[in-house]
Amino acid sequence: MIAVANQKGGVGKTTTSVNIAAALSMHGQRVLVVDLDPQGNASTALATEHRGDVPDVYQVLVDDLPMADIVKQVPEMPNLYCAPATIDLAGAEIELVSLVAREARLRRALAAYEAMELDYIIIDCPPSLGLLTVNALVAADEVMIPIQCEYYALEGLGQLLRNVDLIKAHLNPTLRLSTIVLTMYDGRTRLASQVADEVRAHFGDTVLNTVIPRSVRLSEAPSYGQSVMTYDPGSSGAMAYMDAAREIAHRATVA
Ligand SMILES: Nc1ncnc2c1ncn2[C@@H]1O[C@H](COP(=O)(O)OP(=O)(O)OP(=O)(O)O)[C@@H](O)[C@H]1O
Ligand SMILES: [Mg+2]
Repeated sequence: MIAVANQKGGVGKTTTSVNIAAALSMHGQRVLVVDLDPQGNASTALATEHRGDVPDVYQVLVDDLPMADIVKQVPEMPNLYCAPATIDLAGAEIELVSLVAREARLRRALAAYEAMELDYIIIDCPPSLGLLTVNALVAADEVMIPIQCEYYALEGLGQLLRNVDLIKAHLNPTLRLSTIVLTMYDGRTRLASQVADEVRAHFGDTVLNTVIPRSVRLSEAPSYGQSVMTYDPGSSGAMAYMDAAREIAHRATVA
């Protein structure tokens, strides 16, 4: 169970969640993507209805609806499932505050969810460190942090890491920062390679060898309700996420 988190917006959390999940599922792994962002971007990219009154993650977290009641199979992707988020989830940050075990609502819901034998659960977090992200970090075994290869990339990272440590100390002792993935890499700029070097110097083997390049195909795919894996499997972005997924799967088997 992997929480994909970074409170900085637009760094590639959703693109990474969706495409790693799709790549793993195409290799026969059974994968659930939990959309924990009220923007519902992961739901959109996975062609999973998330408007109107479809049951969603909000109802699981706040109203105790079973996870099984909201999970949908992703069209054309037999091993891939999505727990959608609607805009209702925006209210959860506040409504959760007054509920019992407010940090562990997602963990509880996922623990009770044994409808399918899943190999991976990937949680796409919103760009904040609020209770939704806390719920993801309490539920997860691992944190994956996408870092955009740009100037402000490392700003705010310290705060995220402190939060991970706090949650580890108080709420989820087995949580670990397993993976950093460098995204939107533009090989033509010195800055991108400098940021990549700096991140590798800091985090060593936690950083995937595979770097995700800037690729227009990656940004186009969601508007077709597809991952890039089916939208344009030969594109640089698809191949990079396929390699990244392979690294993650390999790490899981040797760990
Ligand atoms: N490697 C890439 N190449 C080109 N565009 C990309 C790449 N990765 C992501 N994008 C685009 O950049 C934007 C932000 O990416 P994404 O939505 O994955 O980030 P996010 O961290 O989930 O954002 P938010 O914080 O809003 O949830 C999107 O329009 C996406 O299509
Ligand atoms: Mg997102």
